[in-house]
Amino acid sequence: MALTPRTVRVALATRSYEIVIGNGVNRQIGERCRALKLGTRCAIISDTNTAPRYENALQTSLRASGFQPAIITVAAGETAKSLKNVQRCYDQLAAHRLERKSFIVALGGGVVGDLAGFVAATYLRGIPFVQVPTTLLAQVDSSVGGKVGVNLSAGKNLVGAFHQPRLVLCDLDTLRTLPPREFRAGLAEVIKYGIIYDARLFARLERDLPRLLKLETKPLAEIVARCCEIKAEVVSQDETESGLRAILNFGHTIGHALEAISRYGKYLHGEAISIGQVAAAELSASQFEFPQRDVERITDLFRGAGLPTSVQLSKQEMEKLFGAMRLDKKVSGGEIKFVLAKKIGEVAWGRSVPEDLIRSTLC
Ligand SMILES: NC(=O)c1ccc[n+]([C@@H]2O[C@H](COP(=O)([O-])OP(=O)(O)OC[C@H]3O[C@@H](n4cnc5c(N)ncnc54)[C@H](O)[C@@H]3O)[C@@H](O)[C@H]2O)c1
Ligand SMILES: [Zn+2]
Repeated sequence: MALTPRTVRVALATRSYEIVIGNGVNRQIGERCRALKLGTRCAIISDTNTAPRYENALQTSLRASGFQPAIITVAAGETAKSLKNVQRCYDQLAAHRLERKSFIVALGGGVVGDLAGFVAATYLRGIPFVQVPTTLLAQVDSSVGGKVGVNLSAGKNLVGAFHQPRLVLCDLDTLRTLPPREFRAGLAEVIKYGIIYDARLFARLERDLPRLLKLETKPLAEIVARCCEIKAEVVSQDETESGLRAILNFGHTIGHALEAISRYGKYLHGEAISIGQVAAAELSASQFEFPQRDVERITDLFRGAGLPTSVQLSKQEMEKLFGAMRLDKKVSGGEIKFVLAKKIGEVAWGRSVPEDLIRSTLC
């Protein structure tokens, strides 16, 4: 059953935009871009998994509204977020004579969104772009907020910019072809919003998780919309992460380090931050009198979503993990900083935690 699309506004003065969430909303891209008065030429950037499935619908709608889309496809996977692909995209945009009012459509998960967004942020010193996220993680997280960028061999997301999209279209139908493991990984970010900002959302997830896992339209639409609302509120208050936006990093200090030491092979991002969030909840219990009962609720919810909640590390791996945490962008003044929970729905950021405590929590 198709529901009326929901709209969430990201309020950022002249850079404000709408996130539209619903079934089949990708077919509205042409009319929505026309309403934004975007230029005629555009380029759809997608990957080898999303292009064959979803590009046609976008092209048809864009052409019907008078736009002239060019198509750029990159190989699927994290390695697509490279300066080499940025260069390839620039060359193709130039070949298709995209100009200042032209725009880019990012069709895919967070990888395509970050790459295409970075290309849009820098080509001709910045042209508009539209996010069409097709993974749960991209719909609730990476497509909203304007962080775009690519990886270097020295590390992930080391080159980037803040460049807000003009529109985000979250077509829930696209989630039906997403591999289940990718969907569950996206749930780790969904659960995160409950922990950091909204105890009611957390309780709803405890109740409705089985329906979400079955991709039932109504709860899925409501929950994706609520997550977008929370991200929009946080970003509106702190666009460039000088404060509040840091709460979105709950579970990410350990999560990012786990991804780095396993060379981005063993864990999906959502799996690594699931382990990181359970560890952060345990650290919160020892540092903040966060109730032990709520550590258990958090662990149970991640487990119920089919996500890992603990990790076995050798002594050597543990040292590598600390090495990676010290290299993280969140380190300041040599201290590893954490987002810790006071209670479900409320967190504090920039908290230093003694290394011994982190070690004993992970053992
Ligand atoms: N910019 C931000 O604020 C932000 C926030 C979080 C994560 N990220 C970035 O997002 C990236 C991860 O994003 P992701 O988890 O979406 O990964 P992804 O883009 O690699 O997508 C996961 C896999 O699913 C495939 N896929 C995507 N949509 C599909 C669909 N509908 N049907 C079938 N297959 C589909 C992709 O081709 C890929 O193989 C990372 O690079 C991370 O750094 C950015
Ligand atoms: Zn994340």
